[in-house]
Order: sequence, then structure tokens, then C-alpha cells
Amino acid sequence: MRVLVAYGTKMGGTQGLAEMVGSDLEDLGHTVDVLSAEDVKNIDGYEAVILGGALYYFISWHKDARAFVKRHKSALRQRPVWLFSSGPLDDSATEKEIPPIKSVKRAMEQVGARGHVTFGGRLEEKQGNLPVGDWRNPEHVRRWAEQVSAELAAN
Ligand SMILES: Cc1cc2nc3c(=O)[nH]c(=O)nc-3n(C[C@H](O)[C@H](O)[C@H](O)COP(=O)(O)O)c2cc1C
Repeated sequence: MRVLVAYGTKMGGTQGLAEMVGSDLEDLGHTVDVLSAEDVKNIDGYEAVILGGALYYFISWHKDARAFVKRHKSALRQRPVWLFSSGPLDDSATEKEIPPIKSVKRAMEQVGARGHVTFGGRLEEKQGNLPVGDWRNPEHVRRWAEQVSAELAAN
């Protein structure tokens, strides 16, 4: 299936996650484009869409992901869509399922999303009291990509 993986990122961590999702889906037999959400003009050529955004300040999903939803809402409603968020700067996202924040839940409703996952995040340079490190977990991403692929196959 032809799948778009679009992302909204500030510091590149979410782009890396989108690339992991894309390469896992390719391994599973799909044809995938991984693109910055702000560069996507239309989604006509895609049978399914995955959209990821970085989390900031407890209430905010990256603006490019939000704008993507707004811009493509009606087209998104016509195809299977999954959303992902990143990411906690600890192991919590691997250890338990972290539900979408309010604005992401609203985006899910707007596009009729089939599912959502929160992946761990990454911070490369110290900012305030936040820990520096990389909690993006390729196995977590792989498990989720396999679930998405299985649902697409069952479509
Ligand atoms: C100022 C700031 C605020 C953040 N707020 C949150 C937050 O509310 N929830 C969360 O899970 N992660 C939060 N993070 C962690 C980021 O989501 C994480 O670093 C993520 O990987 C960044 O993605 P990006 O590299 O794609 O921009 C915050 C990071 C920074 C620097």
C-alpha cells in the first residue's frame, strides 16, 4: 500500500521516528514517503497516512502536525490514519501506553484516526531542568508499525 508518513519536528527527533516508521513499513511491503508535514501539499496519492508530532509544554503538539490536520481534514477522513506523539524524556512511553494529550485527541476525532501511540523523545542539548538523552525505541516503533500494517492488510 502507498503510505505517507508526515511529521512535525523542532529538533529532529520526531523526524527520526517518522523515518523508523517508514523504513519498518517498507520492510513490511509498503511503498512509503516520509515528509515534513509542512511540505505536503496534497495527499491524493496515498492510501493511508501516519502523522507524528513532537510534544511541548504538556499542551502542545507540533504546529506543523496541527496545521496538516486542518489543511487535509476532509481527505484524511477518507483514508485510514494513525497519529503518533513524541516524546517523554524517560522510559515511560516504552513501559506503558501514554494516551494522547487533549489537542491530539481532538485531532484524532477530526480525522477519524484509527489509533495513536506515544513514543519516547530525544533531547540533545540541555534545556532548563530537562534530561538530555535519547528515549526513542526502535523496537517500540517496530511493534507499532507491525500493528498498523496488519490493520492495513485487514482493510
Ligand atoms: C521546552 C520543552 C518542552 C517539552 N515538553 C514536553 C511535554 O510536554 N511532553 C513530552 O512528552 N515531552 C516534552 N518535551 C520533550 C520533547 O517532546 C522531546 O525532546 C522530543 O523528542 C522533541 O521532538 P523534536 O526533536 O521532533 O522537536 C519537551 C522538550 C522541550 C525542550
